[in-house]
Amino acid sequence: MLAALVVLLAAPAAAQRITYRPTYVEPQRPQYHFTPAINWMNDPNGLVYYNGEYHLFYQYNPYGIQWGHMSWGHAVSTDLVHWTHLPVAIPEQNGVMAFSGSAVVDHQNTSGFGTTEHPPMVAIYTGHQPTKQAQYLAYSTDRGRTWTTYEGNPVLDIGRKNFRDPNVFWYAPEQKWVMLVALPTEYKVQFYESKNLKDWTLMSTFGPQGGTGGIWECPDLFRLPVEGTNETRWVLEVDMNPGALHGGSGGQYFVGSFDGTTFTRLPTADTSTVNWVDYGKDFYAAIDWANLPDAQNRHVWIGWMNNWQYGEQIPTHPWRSAQSIPRRLALRRTDDGFRLVQYPVQELQQLRDIHRHLTDLPVPAGTHSLRDHGISGRALEIVATIDVGTAEEVGLKVRRGGTEETLVGVDVRGEQVFVDRSRSGVTDFSAHFAGRHEGPLPITDGRVTLRVFVDWSSVEVFADEGYTVITDRIFPQPQHQGVAVYAEGGDARIVSMDVWTLRSAWAVR
Ligand code: FRU
Repeated sequence: MLAALVVLLAAPAAAQRITYRPTYVEPQRPQYHFTPAINWMNDPNGLVYYNGEYHLFYQYNPYGIQWGHMSWGHAVSTDLVHWTHLPVAIPEQNGVMAFSGSAVVDHQNTSGFGTTEHPPMVAIYTGHQPTKQAQYLAYSTDRGRTWTTYEGNPVLDIGRKNFRDPNVFWYAPEQKWVMLVALPTEYKVQFYESKNLKDWTLMSTFGPQGGTGGIWECPDLFRLPVEGTNETRWVLEVDMNPGALHGGSGGQYFVGSFDGTTFTRLPTADTSTVNWVDYGKDFYAAIDWANLPDAQNRHVWIGWMNNWQYGEQIPTHPWRSAQSIPRRLALRRTDDGFRLVQYPVQELQQLRDIHRHLTDLPVPAGTHSLRDHGISGRALEIVATIDVGTAEEVGLKVRRGGTEETLVGVDVRGEQVFVDRSRSGVTDFSAHFAGRHEGPLPITDGRVTLRVFVDWSSVEVFADEGYTVITDRIFPQPQHQGVAVYAEGGDARIVSMDVWTLRSAWAVR
């Protein structure tokens, strides 16, 4: 697949053309995360499943490694793991950039863009101009391979400079489409309805609530099962930039009900309480896949694994940014109310290669390399159950070598899990990059379980069955692949630990 792919890098004005053959073994190239072959990417867009294919569109600059000329890049996969690049689906046209949005399969051909036998795929996105943002449509009748922009665009224009990121879904009880769209500078999400995707009527507005330290972007709404029950609740996700937990951009969510018109947050003690989606710094603008088969009975999303604070400076070439691993979503009932939980999709297990299993390993105070246990690597999945013992801090060190290491640790007394990337490798491209990012981790029975995905330039931690997730990019030297366990202030014990090296999803096939 990749062997045949030669990408033309062309500056729009200049006639200069550079050919580049992506190898997917460039020094910081993620091996099982989605990255474009070349150039700049941000938010995932238009995630939709159709006829056996998962479509991934994304904010893309076809002409450079910085944000600009925003268009919808496109890739497809049959398993959420191996991706095939397709041509740009929706380009910047006549000075109108194609900003973020969603895609649906119009099974009943309400739009008239296709037929009921061959339903159209319809993308709903923000057409961005310097003084105005409005909602546009484009459609495809050939499984997303070619796209036509609707001649009646825009379909929703309220004359605002900031009005973006439409997220559309089919609301079956009323046989209608519902669109969420952000009024970013007012910290609001508006809800519209339509019978045909073309004519939209305002139904309700949510916000300001929760985190309002930065503008609101990329709303998403879905109904999730409550684990261990037959119940469901609706979750409204809204991204915020800046003002997130550790600075820069990040996502928050609200749990509540949706009656087809209005989203109502469940009563909380304090409406300014913020529920963070992810406790790292690199997970933004996540949206879920539309039109997943009922038989899958799951909700899956991905997020942009970057942060607007330093996103354009991260040291990768000739592409910039990655998407997170796909994650299945659910709600868990806790003493503090409902909590969003995330699990790596099981399809990732096909990448597992060499397996090591450890049980009952003492971790006296100090750092202990696992090299003699045959454990090291640049791309790993680690599942560790740790008895915290008398330790004040305990955890793993990954991508170790020289003076570099990334800590995935537990602050026992503080009941927190953290990633510390202060010495993770190249950090000096931005003053906002190095640091420690922690989230809550209730410790019961003195034990914690950490599931960690390490890639060539990232760490994703799923603590306590997805209760707290931390997503952080790291840029270590390629040869730094050591793994260690450590304890501070006392002794701990590894109850069990499974480590797999993960194969590349980008191997030339
Ligand atoms: C979020 C965002 C969206 C916008 C897009 C532009 O990262 O700012 O609000 O549509 O990026 O690329």
